[in-house]
Amino acid sequence: MHFGYYRFPMIPLWREQMLDAMNRYVIESLKLGDSDKIVYDLGCGLAAPCRTFAKMYPEKKVKGITIVEWQIQKARELNRQKNIDGIIELILGDYTNLPFDDNSADAAYALESACHCPGDDKAAFVKEMMRVLKPGKKFAIADGFLKRPSEKFYPLLKYCYNEICKGWALPSFPNVNGVVEQLKLNGAENIKVTDLSFRVAPSVMHAPFTVVSFVLKKMLQGEKLNSVRIGHLKACFLGLFMGMHRGSFSYLMITGNKKS
Ligand SMILES: C[S@@+](CC[C@H](N)C(=O)[O-])C[C@H]1O[C@@H](n2cnc3c(N)ncnc32)[C@H](O)[C@@H]1O
Repeated sequence: MHFGYYRFPMIPLWREQMLDAMNRYVIESLKLGDSDKIVYDLGCGLAAPCRTFAKMYPEKKVKGITIVEWQIQKARELNRQKNIDGIIELILGDYTNLPFDDNSADAAYALESACHCPGDDKAAFVKEMMRVLKPGKKFAIADGFLKRPSEKFYPLLKYCYNEICKGWALPSFPNVNGVVEQLKLNGAENIKVTDLSFRVAPSVMHAPFTVVSFVLKKMLQGEKLNSVRIGHLKACFLGLFMGMHRGSFSYLMITGNKKS
């Protein structure tokens, strides 16, 4: 799951539409041509972006990789329901050690997944992505990014940041300067950073309602929330506060290509 992309005249209350628009936005940014056949989704989750890809490009192939086994099973089930099994290949693996050959992808993207890589500059993720991309081919990384080191945050912001990382099981958010530096070191060019914070804001505003309705549902079912779930839900609220600090944090998409 990821945040949605809002564009007028969408209805901001319609979350599914914004989620699909985010998938499309990221995939469109790759500007795939007729000769581009194989695309990698690095950190594919339940493969919602792969399913959007399959609708947009039924003649191409997307290989989604995730490190969580149950996500593969669930994603395969969802793909079967949509009858798009052939276009999507799902692989259990680590994007810091990809089971793909050098120069094998016509494009690659990571939607809210690079943040799970250790280190603010996400070096291990960037290195692997650049290794598997064919020369000249494009990439897109969309995520929440730090614009300055978290050590420089004032105490309340630092507390919220740490709680968000804990709640969402993130080692740290990517630092935009660190990631751009790594991309350059690993042979990327034409690097462009686009701020999507306002596009994403309407879907971020869904968080409190989604959290409250989830908690109420669980209470009505007589279920207790465990500490992992509480941490996750707390992070959703704190994310709103964090998002207001535009000088420190933004939702960005970084695009570019590997040098020919
Ligand atoms: C927030 S989810 C986003 C999922 C998907 N990109 C989407 O937008 O719906 C983050 C995903 O990154 C995956 N992930 C985290 N670390 C990974 C790693 N080292 N290798 C592969 N996948 C990883 C998680 O398993 C999860 O599927």
